[in-house]
Formats: sequence, C-alpha cells, structure tokens
Amino acid sequence: MEFSIKTTLPEKQKTGCVVVGVFESRKLTDLAKSLDECSNGYLSDILKQGDMEGKAGSTLLLHHVPGVLAERVLLVGLGKASEFSEKAYLDAIHAALEAVRKTGAKDAYFCLTSTPVKDCDIEWNVYQAALAVKDGFYHFDKLKSSPEKKKDALKKIYLHASGKRVEEALLQGIAVAEGMKLAKDLGNLPGNVCTPTYLSTQALDIAKEYKLDSRILEKEDMQELGMGSLLSVTRGSVEPPKLIVLEYKGAAKSKKPVVLVGKGITFDTGGISLKPGADMDEMKYDMCGAASVLGTIRAAAQMKLKLNIVAIVPSCENMPSGSATKPGDIVTSMSGQTIEVLNTDAEGRLILCDALTYAEKYEPETVIDVATLTGACVIALGHVASGLYSNDEKLAAELIEAGEKARDRAWRMPLWDEYQEQLKSNFADMGNIGGRPAGSVTAACFLARFTKKYRWAHLDVAGTAYRSGRHKGSTGRPVPLLCRFLIERADRA
Ligand code: BES
Ligand code: MN
Ligand code: ZN
Repeated sequence: MEFSIKTTLPEKQKTGCVVVGVFESRKLTDLAKSLDECSNGYLSDILKQGDMEGKAGSTLLLHHVPGVLAERVLLVGLGKASEFSEKAYLDAIHAALEAVRKTGAKDAYFCLTSTPVKDCDIEWNVYQAALAVKDGFYHFDKLKSSPEKKKDALKKIYLHASGKRVEEALLQGIAVAEGMKLAKDLGNLPGNVCTPTYLSTQALDIAKEYKLDSRILEKEDMQELGMGSLLSVTRGSVEPPKLIVLEYKGAAKSKKPVVLVGKGITFDTGGISLKPGADMDEMKYDMCGAASVLGTIRAAAQMKLKLNIVAIVPSCENMPSGSATKPGDIVTSMSGQTIEVLNTDAEGRLILCDALTYAEKYEPETVIDVATLTGACVIALGHVASGLYSNDEKLAAELIEAGEKARDRAWRMPLWDEYQEQLKSNFADMGNIGGRPAGSVTAACFLARFTKKYRWAHLDVAGTAYRSGRHKGSTGRPVPLLCRFLIERADRA
C-alpha cells in the first residue's frame, strides 16, 4: 500500500473513489459540501431522499456523481458532530476502508483525515489513518499450502491534510504499522518455526537492514555471566537459548539509552509444572513481548528517532524433560539473589530477572520490560488494557498517556511492599510464585527486586498481545504504545 498527502479539493482529484464524511443527521462535512456544490446539490438531494442519515459506521457508495472527477464517491457516516471522538474517527476510517475494498477502485482519496477530532491534531488523524489502513491489510497465510488469492485492487491511498508535520506523521504511522507487522508475524509463527535461534536470526536481519549494533549471547556466555535463573528455564529444552541485544544509536553517545526488554519464551509448556492441554497451542505467543520489542526498535530506527535505544530479548523454550528444572530447585540469578523455583510455569520472571540485571551495563535512562507474564493479568484487566507497573511516577504517567494517545491502553497496578510478603521462601531469598491472590502484582513485585538501580516499568501484556478463539492471532500490541512513548521522548529532547 502506497500513501501520499494531498490538499486537492475532493472533486478535483482523479481517483477510483473519493471518501467524505457526513454527520448525523444529514450534515455534510466541509469537504463533502465542496463536492455537493460542484455537483449541483447531488449529494444533498440523495440525503434528502433518506438514503443516508450519517449514523456512525454507515456508508453509501455513489457512482458517476456529476462534476466530480472521481469514479465513485463514498459517503461515510460519522455519527453526531458533537460526539466525534477518537473512537468515532477510527470507526469511520475502518468502515470506509471496508467499503472501498469491496469496490474495484485502484486508489482512493480519504478526505476524512481533515475532519477535526476532539482533542486531536491533524497529525494524529494522519498517523492513525495510515496505521489503521496498513494494519487493516494484515493477514497471515504464509503457512497455507495454497494461500487464498487476495484480489485487492486498492493499491494507493491519498489522505487529505495540510499542516506543518503531516508528512512526518504519515511516515510515523507507516513505520509503526510495519513494526506491528513484524511483531504479529513473529507471534503468529508456530513454536517449531519461531525458535530462539529463529528470533536471533530475525533480529540480525533487522540489525543489518537498519544498521543497528547487535550481539547474540549463547548459553556459554550466559554461564559466564552467572545467569543461573535464565539457564534454569532452558534446561529441559533441546533448542539452544539466546540472549539477543540490538542497539539503535539515534542520539549522541553521552545520551543514556531507553532499554526495552522482551520476554521471549518461544513455547511455554509450563515445564515439569506442566500446563493443561486445552489451548496450550496459544503458548506459542509467549514470545510476544520479545516480538513487540523488536518491532518497536525497528520502527524507531525507521523513524530515525533522536534517541538511543537498546532491545534485550532473553529467549528459550520452557519444556519438561529428564534434565528440566524441578519444583523446589534453587537457582542463583545473575544479581546474586537466590530463587526457589516453586512452580516451573512461572518461568517468564526467571528469564526476565537476569535480562534486567544484564540491562544495568547500559546505564539506562529508563528500562521497560514487556511480557505475557501472567494469566492473572488477563483476569484483572481482560483484553482491553495491558497491566502497567513502575517504580517511577513520572514514567508511569508518560506511559499511560502514550497508551491513551496511541489507543493502545495500559492501566497502572500497584507494587506496594505489602505484596512482597507473598514471595517469601523458607530456603532461598525468594520463591518464584506468590500464590493465587494478585498473581499479576506478585509477578511484577518479583521483577522489582531486580530493577532497583534504575527507573523501570513493566507491561504485562498477557491479555493484549494476542486474541484467542475464531480471531486467534497476534495484535501487535504494545508496539503502538511504546512507539508513541519514544516519539514523545524524542520530541522533547
Ligand atoms: N506465559 C504464562 C502466562 C500467560 C497465561 C500468558 C495465559 C497468556 C495467557 C506464564 O508463563 C505463566 O504460566 N504464568 C503462570 C504463573 C503462575 C504459575 C504463578 C500463570 O499465570 O498461571
Ligand atoms: Mn509459564
Ligand atoms: Zn510463560
């Protein structure tokens, strides 16, 4: 899909389909009015006949509108003008895209982007439209033997917009969509394809394309560094573990980096604390944190953000076997703290804690980890918001705000000391589980013991990184949130 920005009046653009908005009830937006005037009131006549009210999500396709160069005119209902919010705007874009794709139009001119949205600027409109369109075209069928031939005629979209930074916003929307695509592809690939080794080769490909520094730590390197906790998780697997590091340098050397850490369990059986069989296939998504971190650093590099960013991905499988870690085993983390592995299915925190200690060497400005960490987070927040934990008020507020703006929301959860009690062990410095109550909180509290040396936030994306059921698939979240956070940071610098 190609995009470009135009300021041409809708009637003057030669295109397969020009798309304009209509508010409820039967109120033409400015650019729809312009079409109406050129066509001698053709649109208002049709509205008067009662063919369209302007209800949110409704569309009406017209052919051969007089005085208009486009082959088709698509009217899109926007709902009440007074209620035209971010959600209504995105719904309108989606409805428009769906309707245009049903036609044979090879290109389309979206004029919806110029309709003001409450509390948003034109750059936001452009960014979201590009993102929504690109993301709307995502499909994953590379593992079908004969993929359905998509007969999408639509190849190019023009967006009506004028403003100082609309071109930049367009490029950002495209970059974030491509980052999401990478995250989705990696997530959707099955465990027998997307192994730790596969993740590391994908990371190296990104490094090559965007000239990032890269480093892959092997098992021996982990042993040397004393990553006993990470190593305890990989013990039952025949796939070699990897710790992937990518460094993007968009700012002066002296500028401390934002470090992103992503959980990269390429399949989570639970280990000796084996999971039940139902839906276990979904545990191929247990590397979605890693995928989002790779997608984000790729997008940041594509946007040439003036920031330094490091991505760290600890990756391995969690398998049962004769050599697997057993419940009750005690391991020593890279930090020196000892851990009693009371449940081998609480493995995410075991690989993250060593990666978080490793992050110290980058003297980070901020560290954010992303992980499909707990089923309890899904119980708490469902599939709407990611769980956000932080040891820094300002960082937490920034991330919440970024999530709102990106419409990829997170909700703050507590890290109070009272919860730390639940991690007590009789035999080691801590256990790796805190019991059923507040399971997402105690998992975060575990990580907090390894992140005292820097500003840190943790996103539990177990409920948001992928969908189950008929629409099973990776969502690409929280790439939009992370990218928005980084864009705002770069803008402020
Ligand atoms: N990868 C899972 C968390 C998960 C569960 C993600 C469901 C997405 C959907 C994680 O490794 C895990 O197994 N967590 C356990 C922790 C428990 C043993 C303390 C859980 O949530 O049940
Ligand atoms: Mn697990
Ligand atoms: Zn897991």
